[in-house]
Amino acid sequence: MEYLISLYGQLPHNHTSTTAAASGDFHYFPFPFLALDKLSLSIQGALSLLCTASWLCAAAGRGAITRAGSGPGPGTTQATPHNSTAWPPSELPYYGRSPPVYPSPPANGSSPLWAAAHARAQNLTSQLTLPELVNLTRGFPGPCVGNTGAVPRLSIPSLCFYDGPSGIRGQEFVSAFPAGIHVAATFDHDLLYRYGAALGAEFRGRGINVALGPVAGPLGRVARGGRNWEGLSNDPYLAGQGLGLITRGMQDAGVIATPKHFLLNEQEFRRRWEDGVGEAVSSNVDDRALHELYVFPFMNALHEGAGAVMCSYQRANHSYACQNSKLLNGVLKTELGFEGFVISDWDGQMSGVASANAGLDVVMPGAGFWGEKLGDAVRNGSVAEERVRDMANRVLAAWFRLEQDEGYPPTSIWPSDETRDGEVVDVQGDHAELIREVGTAGTVLVKNVNGTLPFGNRTRFLCVYGYDAVVKAAPWGNPDRYSGGYDVNAGWNTFNGTMVTAGGSGGNTPGYVVSPFQALQERVARDRGVLRWDFHSEDPGTRYAHADACLVFINAYASESFDRPSLEDAPSDRLVRNVAAMCANTIVVVHSAGIRTVDAWILHPNVTAVLFAGLPGQESGHSLVSLLYGDTSPSGRLPYTVAKTETDYAQLLNSSVSGADYFPDSDFAEGLHIDYRAFDRDGVAPRFEFGFGLSYTTFAHERLEVRFVDTAQTSVAEYPDPGVAVVQGGHPELWDAVAVVKCVVVNTGERESTEVVQLYVGVPGDDTPVRQLRGFRRTRLLSPGQTAKLEFELTRRDLSVWDVVAQQWRLRRGEYKVWVGASSRDFRLNGTLVVS
Ligand code: BGC
Repeated sequence: MEYLISLYGQLPHNHTSTTAAASGDFHYFPFPFLALDKLSLSIQGALSLLCTASWLCAAAGRGAITRAGSGPGPGTTQATPHNSTAWPPSELPYYGRSPPVYPSPPANGSSPLWAAAHARAQNLTSQLTLPELVNLTRGFPGPCVGNTGAVPRLSIPSLCFYDGPSGIRGQEFVSAFPAGIHVAATFDHDLLYRYGAALGAEFRGRGINVALGPVAGPLGRVARGGRNWEGLSNDPYLAGQGLGLITRGMQDAGVIATPKHFLLNEQEFRRRWEDGVGEAVSSNVDDRALHELYVFPFMNALHEGAGAVMCSYQRANHSYACQNSKLLNGVLKTELGFEGFVISDWDGQMSGVASANAGLDVVMPGAGFWGEKLGDAVRNGSVAEERVRDMANRVLAAWFRLEQDEGYPPTSIWPSDETRDGEVVDVQGDHAELIREVGTAGTVLVKNVNGTLPFGNRTRFLCVYGYDAVVKAAPWGNPDRYSGGYDVNAGWNTFNGTMVTAGGSGGNTPGYVVSPFQALQERVARDRGVLRWDFHSEDPGTRYAHADACLVFINAYASESFDRPSLEDAPSDRLVRNVAAMCANTIVVVHSAGIRTVDAWILHPNVTAVLFAGLPGQESGHSLVSLLYGDTSPSGRLPYTVAKTETDYAQLLNSSVSGADYFPDSDFAEGLHIDYRAFDRDGVAPRFEFGFGLSYTTFAHERLEVRFVDTAQTSVAEYPDPGVAVVQGGHPELWDAVAVVKCVVVNTGERESTEVVQLYVGVPGDDTPVRQLRGFRRTRLLSPGQTAKLEFELTRRDLSVWDVVAQQWRLRRGEYKVWVGASSRDFRLNGTLVVS
């Protein structure tokens, strides 16, 4: 019962208070712990029998509560559910909004991928005592961000968990890769995989067992979300392809990947419980949006065999995500057959028994509400021993499956301010080349008037302006975080130096940074040209009449722990306008941790070219200069919509919560309509649409062919076969290709380039988005006149909607529209597929 679980959320939030968790020392609930738990289990049993379509039950439960006069459900304006004189206010009105799913399904290797590993894990855990089992489920002090307990008598080591999604944070001789949002902007399957593999190799090389990434939560629902840049894209298909391929790459290299944060951590504001303020925000979402948007990318990572998943800080339908049985027992471990382990976000565990029974497997970074108390809970019957054994099985099975039990490199993690007593392990390899390639491929050219770019041979005199052109003078205020974070630059709009990564645990620590200015110097020196610069002034003033072009570098910062104050920045915008006022050929480069609106200057006639250069990692300048000089033609595409004004994002601009509520709500009332889906539905013209990006050449898309995989096929089953067992990643038939789309791309211009071709689908029904991305391909390099044949597979899941009644993906009958083109609004070909 989620409402009983929520009671545990009212335990003292001090994580040293594990005694309270297990002893029944409730602040607001008078019953003894054991009695409560027994009650909880029996009601759970009854309800799970009644509720097979569990989200429906949620609705029923909500209705019942609402009828009892206790408060409205998600999507409605929240009435104050408590007497304002009582503090803290009662949580009772919120109970039951997230459906209960119990018991927690044990993993037993039913996915072929996991069979052998689980057999070995079970053999090992059968030899462990209860305290030993418990040791494997919690964190201890150690060199890593998280360290599990060891069982030396059976040679089970402490496992090292470490951040983050774009490189090993806070270490020396490691690489700073481009951020997730940047690699997603490449729309390139091969680069996504190679990115994951290179990251994985670095983690493995340093003996890190569990890498805390990649990210698809936040997905990017809120335009100003502080962590959107760690993730891939607010489009679930692009995010899903990326999450899957990066996971595969990392795990092929031998490290356990941890897709995070599961789930609905779409804002930083009030992401956690705060003393004297209230509980964390509750992301209130309907079942369909839950599946079609937020769970969707995680399905890919699970399908690729992810060994771990990190649950998130905030509440989901008023039950904390790390004790939310619907999300963990239900969606993750039942629907998606997950056989690895669920790790709490750091200090994100909010209860002891409840989180154990809801499907959490490992608490980090300490004992949280577990440790010895988890043993007590087993002994007093509150948690079944089998549940604890399952937690340990899951951890060890992942360790076996990734073959970390033999020959795994020793952990080599050294804080920079401590004397190292081991060998330096340099894991950079040749990753700088890949970083440079991804940096270039993920940079998006959005304006290029009259062939301003690329520079020709005669471009030898450049003026360079802006704080973002050079490295920050003193970036190491916190040696762990090049771009700072909560501790250094909370609330910042911009970063005072070139931005190659953003802030918080998702930032990385470059060994070096090639700034744009450095790379321009290298190039201009080679050309025996001239540079003039001013990185300081908002209005540089001096006009150099002989200069060929002026480059202005600005950025848009973000960090974990706060949502962005704005998508624009007045001083940066003034800088661009001031330069444009004196320079007829002004090229703007924006390094941004997500969306940056540009209407303050984009139409200025002297702004002749604009590049969204994202968060490119340590080779930033080299990646950019290759594009400026035409060594590479741009092919990056926006992984989000850039609106004309911030207000065009409407209620999806900012976190939607007032700071004053004890139980803050964020109602995902827009359902499926985030980002371009909302712009398309409302007919709002964006400045630059999702998927947009220019090239130095032109392409024609030709010869569309849309057909079923099996050409003789006349009808397709509406649902996956219920007789086929679920394996990790969901029902296997969801991944079967149902249809194939083919086309031909021709380079009709005069320069060699790659092209990103996008496939959008309109699913029949008036309750679906106008169109949704369901395929993309980045071609190989095509010379002028050269063609490439492309083929896209549409799987059952790609064409299905989540049926909330059947609790299954459903392939609707009717006419599916298919568009192929260069962005979400630039279609070159269209066709249909009729499913009957
Ligand atoms: C972040 C996680 C991170 C963890 C460990 C948390 O605050 O939300 O993404 O992996 O810290 O650093």
